[in-house]
Amino acid sequence: MDGWRNRDEAVEVRTKAPDLGLSFEACLLERDPEPCTIVIVGASGDLTSRKLLPALYDLFLRGALPDPFLIVGCARTEMRDEDFRERTKEALSGRAGLDLSRWPHFASSLHYRPVKYDEPSSFMKLAADLRELSQKFQVNGNRIFYLAIPPALYGTTAELLGKSGLSAGQDFGEGWARIVVEKPFGRDLDSAIQLDRSLHEFFKEDQIFRIDHYLAKETVQNILMFRFANAIFEPVWNRNYIDHVSITAAESLGVEHRAGYYEQSGVLRDMFQNHMMQLLALVAMEPPSIFEAERVRDEKAKVYRALRPFPVERLQDYLVLGQYGAGKVQGRPVPGYRQEPGVSPDSLTPTFAMMKILLDNWRWQGVPFFLSSGKRLGEKRTEIVIHFKEVPHSMFRRTLDEEIQANRLILGIYPEEKISLTFQTKNPGARVCLRSVTMDFHYHQNYRGPVLDAYEKVLLDCMLGDQMLFWRQDGVELCWSFLTPILEECETCGFRAQMLLPYESGSWGPEAVRNLSGEMPGQR
Ligand code: BG6
Repeated sequence: MDGWRNRDEAVEVRTKAPDLGLSFEACLLERDPEPCTIVIVGASGDLTSRKLLPALYDLFLRGALPDPFLIVGCARTEMRDEDFRERTKEALSGRAGLDLSRWPHFASSLHYRPVKYDEPSSFMKLAADLRELSQKFQVNGNRIFYLAIPPALYGTTAELLGKSGLSAGQDFGEGWARIVVEKPFGRDLDSAIQLDRSLHEFFKEDQIFRIDHYLAKETVQNILMFRFANAIFEPVWNRNYIDHVSITAAESLGVEHRAGYYEQSGVLRDMFQNHMMQLLALVAMEPPSIFEAERVRDEKAKVYRALRPFPVERLQDYLVLGQYGAGKVQGRPVPGYRQEPGVSPDSLTPTFAMMKILLDNWRWQGVPFFLSSGKRLGEKRTEIVIHFKEVPHSMFRRTLDEEIQANRLILGIYPEEKISLTFQTKNPGARVCLRSVTMDFHYHQNYRGPVLDAYEKVLLDCMLGDQMLFWRQDGVELCWSFLTPILEECETCGFRAQMLLPYESGSWGPEAVRNLSGEMPGQR
């Protein structure tokens, strides 16, 4: 294939990254993906038009898609290839600065086949069509099945794909076959195990890609590089120097048009069972001996094994739940959660949670991790803050009227992709005064090359067969083992309504979180 060099971005791509001395293409692709067909099951849905097709088009423009490649959309809707191409173009055209100069080439790789999700014959027909397309376009029979459908359909779809021979791949002399599923992976431990059984009936573990789009964020991936490629942080990254860690994923958006899903999941299933747990693992895990998918996933699983179970009779000491009421976000009045379309007027679904997590291992014994996430908070902000311990003795106590602030390291994920370290310095002047200053690194500083969006990264990794950024089933089950008793207690206890604290939209959550962590999530 042409590779990066001959494609349109070559000028930008060839520029040297000033600080690293590496060419950008060296940082973008480790190897070229093999020719393949990406089959999007659920191609008429929102995820496909908002995320998947734009990500595939961007990868194409960057020259990162294999050559040849095919995209086959499948859904219940009857459509011709031309209609699917037209819809895709519409989905792309809302984007600013869109380059359509190479659209005809991309469009020629788009195909559409209607399927009925409960009809084996429909999948047999799909299998025959895919074989024919593979031969015609010489894509070696390599296939990725991306399930962009409601999770309730994952099991049956995997089964029908399997029964029509589409999961077999290399075992039958065809190319490889991979299946991609998005969270939620079940709604508790039992359903997660059940889902996994259905997937494993026809797909092996190394064929299953369980997506967590947080892991594909550049700054999230950077956490491991920061921790393990610098000698100065690791020696202080433990209970001897760290007082506590806050991990915050605050959103200003409300439930939007997703009430049907959100009413059933709430913040704990929507954000904690997946994204928050991954962030926790990246901060807390031990260094693997080698940067390789299985070794990294082993170390994450060890963190989940060390999660101290919550004493359910003292849930309030570890968990604060909230639900947003009406308020103002960025100056705009917004309704409360119960007034949102599709939400029950007496809903008890939490839209905010703060959890105090303890890890029972040598490194982290006694260090609380405060995980918080919520909708309709003051602003969208995702960050990890490492709060170091205070100095053991303040020799300035006689001359200073204020306390010396402990050092803080902020790993900013959104909106500022940055790392900043605060420390104390002497304020200039005759008097002994301290001031807190910050040393900042902005992630895109000195970098002018292309940045992959999270969906581009996961699609590329699926094509490359790299599982590093995907959940492994043991991790999924360990997290559910931790969360399921908490969810059961929250959802069945007699004081469910009292546990759910109201907070005003635009605030930083219920005031009661101060009793848990001493500070509000957005506060520094
Ligand atoms: C999704 C959740 O997984 O992550 C959403 O279902 C949430 O409720 C979203 O809004 C947040 O992702 P990001 O990338 O915007 O922080």
